[in-house]
Amino acid sequence: MLRGKNAFITGCNRGIGRAILDKMMSYNANIYCAIKKEDTNFSEYLENYNRSSGSRAEIIMLDLSNGDHIKDSIKILYEKKEKIDILINNAGIADGALFEMTSIKTMKDIFEINFFSQIQLTQLLLRFMKKSESACIVNIGSVSGLTPERGTISYGSSKAALMFATKVMANELSRFNIRVNAVAPSLIKTDMLDQMDDKSINKILDQTYSGKIGEARDIADVVLYLVSDSAKSINGQIIRADGGMKV
Ligand SMILES: NC(=O)c1ccc[n+]([C@@H]2O[C@H](COP(=O)([O-])OP(=O)(O)OC[C@H]3O[C@@H](n4cnc5c(N)ncnc54)[C@H](OP(=O)(O)O)[C@@H]3O)[C@@H](O)[C@H]2O)c1
Repeated sequence: MLRGKNAFITGCNRGIGRAILDKMMSYNANIYCAIKKEDTNFSEYLENYNRSSGSRAEIIMLDLSNGDHIKDSIKILYEKKEKIDILINNAGIADGALFEMTSIKTMKDIFEINFFSQIQLTQLLLRFMKKSESACIVNIGSVSGLTPERGTISYGSSKAALMFATKVMANELSRFNIRVNAVAPSLIKTDMLDQMDDKSINKILDQTYSGKIGEARDIADVVLYLVSDSAKSINGQIIRADGGMKV
């Protein structure tokens, strides 16, 4: 289904990004894997894919906390005059603290990674996406950006900004045949969830119809659908992937 398509995924060495990578590999996409830290095991994993799939996966070293480096990180795309069909803005960081206890520095740090750098990367990759006959972008948002839970001022606001930008981008980029959607997961079993206290987790589970914490592959399934031709009429949407929530 994705053979011949070129995808760019941020933060795909672990968690939800890794599940998206695995899913796209199972459909034989060519993939630029943007990661922050070198990892031999991860490199070997990609080499196996390159040997066995007939497609290719390549590492791009990308630290989203430093906007000045983003352009340098993707220079290989300029060299290859590459086309990008799929961009998944997945990498992100969490923060939980009450409004009164959240410094402006923390807010800026969270927004730098969860919002500004994603916007900057997307702007830089647009020239490559315009070469695709039909491209799509999926931003990984969060239900935290939709419901004003206590303690989510920095993380929730950054995700709300990303999800709003998703709709504006969809509006402006549809003339280039680029669709833009976001997925808003609730609790997903990854390292990020370990940062949350049990009380907050249980409160959210109480509000969840399924009563369960989701798996990273659940989100990868939604992303796969959104990047497929089956979703070609879906644009500018925030798809909640939360097991059903009362709020
Ligand atoms: N897990 C949840 O419950 C949940 C719920 C809703 C939304 N989300 C969203 O889903 C996305 C993936 O989260 P996850 O649960 O998979 O989290 P995770 O397991 O903590 O993984 C986060 C990923 O982001 C990367 N990353 C962090 N800071 C970065 C930076 N400065 N530059 C480049 N990459 C960076 C990490 O790279 P390193 O490995 O190098 O640190 C890692 O690959 C995030 O946007 C998150 O906000 C998660």
